[in-house]
Amino acid sequence: MNGVLAALRERARARLDPVHWDFYEGGAGAETALAANEAAFARLALLPRVLTGAGPADPAVTLLGERLSMPVLVSPTAFHRLAHPDGERATARAVAAAGTVLITSMAATTAVDEVTAAAREVRPDAAVWFQLYLQPEPAVTEALVRRAEKAGCTALVVTADSPVFGRRTRDDRNGFHDLPPGLAAENMRDLPGAPPGRTRDIAMSPALSWADLRRLRELTELPVVLKGVLHPADARRAADEGVAALLVSNHGGRQLDAAPAGVEALPAVADAVAGRIPVLLDGGVRSGADAVAALALGAAAVGVGRPVLWGLAADGEAGVAAVLAELRAEVEHILTLCGAADCHGLGRDQVVVRGATGVRPC
Ligand SMILES: Cc1cc2nc3c(=O)[nH]c(=O)nc-3n(C[C@H](O)[C@H](O)[C@H](O)COP(=O)(O)O)c2cc1C
Repeated sequence: MNGVLAALRERARARLDPVHWDFYEGGAGAETALAANEAAFARLALLPRVLTGAGPADPAVTLLGERLSMPVLVSPTAFHRLAHPDGERATARAVAAAGTVLITSMAATTAVDEVTAAAREVRPDAAVWFQLYLQPEPAVTEALVRRAEKAGCTALVVTADSPVFGRRTRDDRNGFHDLPPGLAAENMRDLPGAPPGRTRDIAMSPALSWADLRRLRELTELPVVLKGVLHPADARRAADEGVAALLVSNHGGRQLDAAPAGVEALPAVADAVAGRIPVLLDGGVRSGADAVAALALGAAAVGVGRPVLWGLAADGEAGVAAVLAELRAEVEHILTLCGAADCHGLGRDQVVVRGATGVRPC
């Protein structure tokens, strides 16, 4: 793990209520998938090319028409006001200033219109995407989509890996199932079926299917990113269905504990999609080298979840800014050391497995 991120993680741990720390850090079941995410990156090494004359590298990328200062965006995570009183607003400001995309969670403790407003105070063209769990009641999904559109979000990120809630061992042990008084999932307020001023619970449904995704696409002009895809056949299907991008993810190890690491699933998904749509990756990205390895394996960009929460808990907006600045600097440095001109300059042949005899490509 990058040293700056590791130090912020320790400061966050020292500051947070241990129950909230466990909520952020924990995974499902025996936390096998959670551990696999970082372990899979630790097994990868980068084979640099020499004398390319290509550098210094430019770490910027373009994604769904948005220019990002680096191939790192912020994956959706719930409840930022547990980490810091400024919560999602602080995150939004730091992400906007860093020039990348914030995917704000449907389970945010700040409503999406306030998140976009905070981002745009810093940068008027800041991109905020809205993460959505399709709700079993279509009227509720539609109200959430309209809320995201009205707030000026420029994409919807539909999380498809959660037909039911993951079983979070630490939360069960700690009895953490409700937000403390004064905090709520603000996007769930004033939705159809809820008494005025009250929030609805987020529902998960194993009955949702591709037909529901199609109905969503009929409802909105916003591009849809499908999050939580691991199987290459689902990736191909998503591209056929007109999804704008995929986010390969095991949900930070918080859903199916038997799932592989995202980066283990990435090459097959990238092959299945064959460049038709961008493929994003999250889970266990803790350094510029991790991000660059994912790019070389076919990702257009990577997402970070927990590192942003560490920065936020450690030092509010400045902590999030520190995480993003460090990742951008490292990506630029490592691309240059690898002899690449930009984020597209590395091939899969430049990622090898550590400890193998000879140099075994991924
Ligand atoms: C505390 C926490 C809350 C999360 N909340 C959501 C969420 O509301 N919606 C979602 O799609 N993913 C959620 N995720 C998953 C992240 O979007 C992302 O897939 C994961 O955190 C990436 O792994 P990383 O934390 O190792 O970077 C959450 C993850 C964490 C750690």
